[in-house]
Amino acid sequence: MKNCPVNHENIKMFPFKRHNGFDLPKEYSFARSSSPIFPVTLWNNQRAWLITRYRDFRKILLDERFSGQFSNENFPTVTKARQAIDKLEKAFVGMDNPHHGHYRRMFTKEFTTKRMNELIPKIEKITDNLLDNIEKKGPVIDLVPELAVELPAMVMCELFGSPYEDRHYILKCAAGRHGLSQSVEDASKSANDLVEYCQNLIINKSQNLKNDMLSRVIKEYVFSEQLSVEELANICSMILRAGHDTTTNMISLGTLLFLNNKKELKKFIQDSSTNFSAIEELLRFLSPVQFAPRRVALEDLDFMGVNIKKGEGIFALIQSANRDELAFEKPDKFDICRNANNHVTFGFGIHTCLGQGLARIELQIVFRKLFQRFPNLKIEEKFNEISFKYDSQIYGIYRLPVSW
Ligand code: HEM
Repeated sequence: MKNCPVNHENIKMFPFKRHNGFDLPKEYSFARSSSPIFPVTLWNNQRAWLITRYRDFRKILLDERFSGQFSNENFPTVTKARQAIDKLEKAFVGMDNPHHGHYRRMFTKEFTTKRMNELIPKIEKITDNLLDNIEKKGPVIDLVPELAVELPAMVMCELFGSPYEDRHYILKCAAGRHGLSQSVEDASKSANDLVEYCQNLIINKSQNLKNDMLSRVIKEYVFSEQLSVEELANICSMILRAGHDTTTNMISLGTLLFLNNKKELKKFIQDSSTNFSAIEELLRFLSPVQFAPRRVALEDLDFMGVNIKKGEGIFALIQSANRDELAFEKPDKFDICRNANNHVTFGFGIHTCLGQGLARIELQIVFRKLFQRFPNLKIEEKFNEISFKYDSQIYGIYRLPVSW
């Protein structure tokens, strides 16, 4: 292996363990300091490579010698269940160009700043109602189900024009895919159930179009036969999954992080001009997407002086890139006044997050309103008792009991 300074005799299994809340696996900083690209072994004994440095993260995601197509043989996965659901993925998140661009373009005008800003009054109202309920119920309440899960779930219902009651079913299906420990059968069933739900939603909506994203896409692309109901159902299922769990875990982890960093919280509460930089820093610091983006080499190639063979997989690690000391000064420090908006929490390249504008709006609204309403919010559990989602594709916490 040309120029690779890593000792290949003792190649570690990936994913690595996280032991302590907000800390990343110690192997990430070791990998960043030792090699541009770091070899690992996966659950099925497949060889894969980690990209841990910020600069290389951006470089590899623009490199067309790598494919992001989930159906590629040897596409790298972290469990057998993830491999099974990758094979079921029919939406553009798992495609290369030109197919990826063909489908993504049908949705880009639904995610413009203008469209997302139209949702602000609704998101504010949903947030106010949820905070009213919390105030009535508590203290003490568990912030995860009462706010972090509810807000993105209701916002996604607004976006799709689906009834709020459906959110529990959607969440159940989405959750069945994100864990690392579920069986192949359960993960596949959850994936299929969500597509079937979307298919029924599209069929019903086609007979009663309204002013929501789904109605507009049906009218423009399904009625003109540029998109089949099945294709749209797969895309909707993907967007629903992408929009829930990520934002939920950002809200719960972000609240925990603020409550553990009282100085930063005080600055945030006292100075509303920190709204933008604080959310970007939360996104950088927390980076909830754990083992993505992934790629596979389409040919034998040389990347940064290391030979990679055709069919070998890559994990470009967002979490590590966002804590690269060459890109961010004192990266392990949570500092809401730093300029962190060049973080890669939403990925990079053609698959960069379509819903990032919406996610930012939700986070800006929820943290501002949460701490305005409850400036004395405190956690009713010791830090070492908090249960982190070590076993999930999307990092987070299972519960957050708080009082005020
Ligand atoms: C804080 C919240 C969020 C985070 C951290 C996040 C993160 C990401 C990341 C890292 C990717 C790239 C995945 C890859 O390259 O493999 C991605 C893609 C995507 N995200 Fe998000 N996301 C968030 C919220 C949302 C929301 C609210 C929506 C929609 C309503 C959404 C829709 C999508 C879609 C459709 C893609 C696939 C884009 C493509 O393949 O072209 N995301 N997201």
